[in-house]
Amino acid sequence: MANNRVCEILGIQHPILLAGMGGASVPKLAAAVSEAGGLGVLGAAACGPSLLREWIREVRSLTSKPFGVDTLLPASVRRNDGAKNSEGPSPMDMMPEHMKFAEEFMKREGLTKPSREQITAAFGASNRVAGEPLMMTKEFFDAQMQVIIEERVPVYAAGLGNPGPWMRELKANGTRVMGVVGAVRHAVQLASAGLDLIVAQGHDGGGHNSPIGTMALIPQVVDAVGGPNGIPVLGAGGITDGRGIAAAFCLGAEGVWVGSAFLASEEAGIFPYQKQAIVDSNEENTMVSKSVTGKPARLIRTKWAQAYQDARMDTLPMPFQNMVSGQVMTAAQIASRGDIAPGFAGQGIGLIKSVRLARVIFDDLLEGCKRAIAAMPREI
Ligand SMILES: Cc1cc2nc3c(=O)[nH]c(=O)nc-3n(C[C@H](O)[C@H](O)[C@H](O)COP(=O)(O)O)c2cc1C
Repeated sequence: MANNRVCEILGIQHPILLAGMGGASVPKLAAAVSEAGGLGVLGAAACGPSLLREWIREVRSLTSKPFGVDTLLPASVRRNDGAKNSEGPSPMDMMPEHMKFAEEFMKREGLTKPSREQITAAFGASNRVAGEPLMMTKEFFDAQMQVIIEERVPVYAAGLGNPGPWMRELKANGTRVMGVVGAVRHAVQLASAGLDLIVAQGHDGGGHNSPIGTMALIPQVVDAVGGPNGIPVLGAGGITDGRGIAAAFCLGAEGVWVGSAFLASEEAGIFPYQKQAIVDSNEENTMVSKSVTGKPARLIRTKWAQAYQDARMDTLPMPFQNMVSGQVMTAAQIASRGDIAPGFAGQGIGLIKSVRLARVIFDDLLEGCKRAIAAMPREI
């Protein structure tokens, strides 16, 4: 696309980015989107350093085009030792109650703790992420960033948090840096850290989630940090077909960060039953819940989130909630339980009618956007 700053900064043909989606945006999918002319971004949040390096090298073996790596840098993650930083019981003190809740839930639902062999058989060698417990510590994030810097990746995206402390090394490598925000004040913080691009992701989107709707958020972030002299802003959250891309451009975005539309792709690293759940869902079938990670995330309705709601129990903060939900999600995924672990997804999934190749999805997004722009009224 001519005269588009996102394309110029990233060295790509079309300003359509595959959103980093943990466990879903795997090397094959990222490479397919980059090959199609967009930017494929690995959802590497849960990858330990050696798997992350493997993934980066795998993308490089599949495409010579630019690609990105997305991880989370949550500023608010509590220390894994459960150290108290406020009055009242620490998350570690509350862990036994939540573990008991999870055990009772699994018993009620006929789920059993999977063996190591079952986990390996289900998650395979190329996508072992989902079967591993999440080690969300400062050391873990530092080790991931070390690999990102050593491998000199073309693009780094912070799905949560501020990559400010690593900017000097990333920039020295020529890495373009972007960050995902759900509020204007976070966009302003990232802009002052010298990021190249900002993603404004609204409430409609899948995964970790802003309370502000996409349509309201994009223009407000653009006004705060974007515009001709500012940082290019990409729109995200509920953008699931070409009309959504055209709408994001109307709101002042210069590109888009698309997640759920690529979940029902042949290449996505999620289970076939999860792809089918997306195809079978409509716009009413998602909810926002803290039951998986401890932070509000949009997911397809699940009995696990419902159980927390019914019990009127608050969840634990990140990363403790992951330790509680991890065993339930892994067992449910191995048992192909769409009623318990259908996965994260955005409100646009009602638009998805089948599982297709990423290339076909990408071309459809592009052509749909062109059609929507051509169909705009010249006068109102
Ligand atoms: C299955 C899934 C996993 C996700 N995992 C991550 C993640 O690991 N890191 C991140 O920055 N965002 C993650 N997200 C959010 C996406 O990057 C993106 O912002 C979101 O998908 C956009 O909304 P959409 O799904 O409606 O397109 C995830 C989203 C989904 C649907």
